[in-house]
Amino acid sequence: METNEVQTQTHDLVLHRGFGLISGIHDPEDVEQIYDLEVRDSDVFVVTYPKSGTIWMQQILLLIEAKGDLTAISQEGNNSDLVPWIELKGNREAFIVAPSPRLRVSHLQYKFMPAALSRRKGKVIYVARNPKDVLVSYFHFHNFANMLETPKDFDDFFEKFMAARVFGGSWFEHVKTWYSHSDDMNMLFITYEEMIQDLPSVVKRISGLLGKDLTEEQLADVVKHSTFKNMKKIPQASYEQVSDDLLNHSQGRFMRKGTIGDWKNHFTVAQSERFDEAFHREMQDFPLSFIWDLRDIK
Ligand code: PPS
Repeated sequence: METNEVQTQTHDLVLHRGFGLISGIHDPEDVEQIYDLEVRDSDVFVVTYPKSGTIWMQQILLLIEAKGDLTAISQEGNNSDLVPWIELKGNREAFIVAPSPRLRVSHLQYKFMPAALSRRKGKVIYVARNPKDVLVSYFHFHNFANMLETPKDFDDFFEKFMAARVFGGSWFEHVKTWYSHSDDMNMLFITYEEMIQDLPSVVKRISGLLGKDLTEEQLADVVKHSTFKNMKKIPQASYEQVSDDLLNHSQGRFMRKGTIGDWKNHFTVAQSERFDEAFHREMQDFPLSFIWDLRDIK
C-alpha cells in the first residue's frame, strides 16, 4: 500500500494512493476497504468535494425520510450520527451492520468508493459547487477546524488549494472523475447553486431518486427546515454542538454565509484571473457550467 506523510505538523495530510487523508481522522487501511463494501439498493451516498453542500444534503435526506417532520429527526448529537461520513475511522465497520436505509456522505474520490455503485447498486447524489466559493468556504473552515492546518493567510491557502495540497485533493479531478462516471450509476448530479436557486425542485428530484412519495405539504416542510436561516437555528444540523477539540467555535461556524459569490470579497483580480485560466484549461472538455454571482440568478 502506497502511503506516505507529506507534512510533519500536528495536522498531517497522509498521501494515500495520491489522495491526502487526515491523520487521526482517517485510517488508510479502512479507506482502502470501502471499495469492496456490499451495497444495498436502498443505500444512498452523498458525495461532495469539501464545502460544497454536504451538511445541507444531510438535513435534506433526513427530512425526506421523515416526510418533513422535524421533530422526528431531533435527537441528541448531530446529523452526522444519522448520516455519517463513510471514510471516518470506524464508520466503515458500522456501515456493514447498519439497518436500511443507510444514508452516508463522503468526500472521497471515485476510485475509493464501493465498486458496486458502478454496477447500479445503491444511489449517489453528487453535489458540485463553484470552486471559487468552495475555496473561500474551505479557507474559513481551515481556520475553524482543529484537524486542519491553520493557513497563514488567504494567499497561503489559495496556493495550497491550487496545488491540491488539501483534503479532497484537486477540485477539478474530483468533480471530473465523478461526473464522467455519472452514467454508470444511479446518480443525481446537482449543484449547490441550483439548490440556492430552486430548492423545492431539487428536493423533489431527490425524493424521486429515493422513491419517496411525499405530498406537496411534506415537500414544503422539507424545504422549510433546510433553508439556511432555519438550519442555522437547528443545533443538530448546524454542528454548533461539536466539541471544542474538533472545532474552534470562536473562529467560525459551519453555517457561515450560505450564498453565491463570496469569493469576490476574498480574491484579488490576479487570483481570479489565474483561477479562471485553470478552470478553462481543466474544464474545457466538460459540459459543466457554474453560477459565479448571485445576480446571475435574480
Ligand atoms: S463540509 O465540511 O465539507 O462538510 O462542508 P459542507 O457542508 O460541504 O459545506 C459548508 C458550506 O455549505 C453552506 N451551507 C448552506 N448554504 C445554503 N443553505 C444551506 N441550508 C446551507 N447549509 C450549509 C455553509 O454555509 C458552507 O458554505 P459557506 O460559503 O462557508 O457559508
